[in-house]
Amino acid sequence: MRKLVAGNWKMHGLGGSLAELQALKRGLGTLSCDVLVCPPATLIARAYGAADGAFAVGGQDCSPKASGAFTGDVSAAMLKDAGAATVILGHSERRHYHGETDALVAEKVKAAWAAGLSVIICVGETDAEREAGKAHAICHGQVAGSVPKAATAANTAIAYEPVWAIGTGKTPTLKEIENMHAHLRRCLAEAIGEGARGVRILYGGSVSPFNAAEILNLSEVDGALVGGASLKASDFLKIIAAIKPL
Ligand code: PGA
Repeated sequence: MRKLVAGNWKMHGLGGSLAELQALKRGLGTLSCDVLVCPPATLIARAYGAADGAFAVGGQDCSPKASGAFTGDVSAAMLKDAGAATVILGHSERRHYHGETDALVAEKVKAAWAAGLSVIICVGETDAEREAGKAHAICHGQVAGSVPKAATAANTAIAYEPVWAIGTGKTPTLKEIENMHAHLRRCLAEAIGEGARGVRILYGGSVSPFNAAEILNLSEVDGALVGGASLKASDFLKIIAAIKPL
């Protein structure tokens, strides 16, 4: 399976940050993986122009509604129109700060598909849930609740992002990552059947140029969702380069 390295800029980036995307484009050689950058919605159109086909551009969230009187919201069709190919949904920061439930995430996924976007659906346990021995159960519930049955390898990727590893510099051990990814593959099979085999399962949470090679070359890991280390082209390029060609 071809791996995917996706950058999540979160609420970082102004027009000046496009220079990082120019540097990214210049630094990409022959790619041994797919590359995606998800800047804030305000930069998607310009990022799409800057990428000029060298890498894909995505959004970080979308409305579950197609259009209407929803002040401040951005629809999936708007993201698509601006140049996005994909949208990240159900990130733990959306679940935590905006109270997004699995059911809402599933609605957003369907809205994104309807607009012709693919999705990256995020799941992951908190520190307390892990300590309580509930990590597998939590992730199982999130897959069951937020991945609609029509998910395929073409329209969906899953990102395993343990909440306690996001932005903290802490990561699970390689064994723990392998173990959880294998578990998620089983959860996906239960949710969508045979097609689960081709769906990419990314790892996210403190991926850096220092740990990328060991994490991203695990056979159960089909790529990465990278926050902080995606903001600087030099770091992001090192992560991309860590992936061994197939
Ligand atoms: P991080 O964020 O790489 O900064 O830990 C990952 C994410 O939240 O997607």
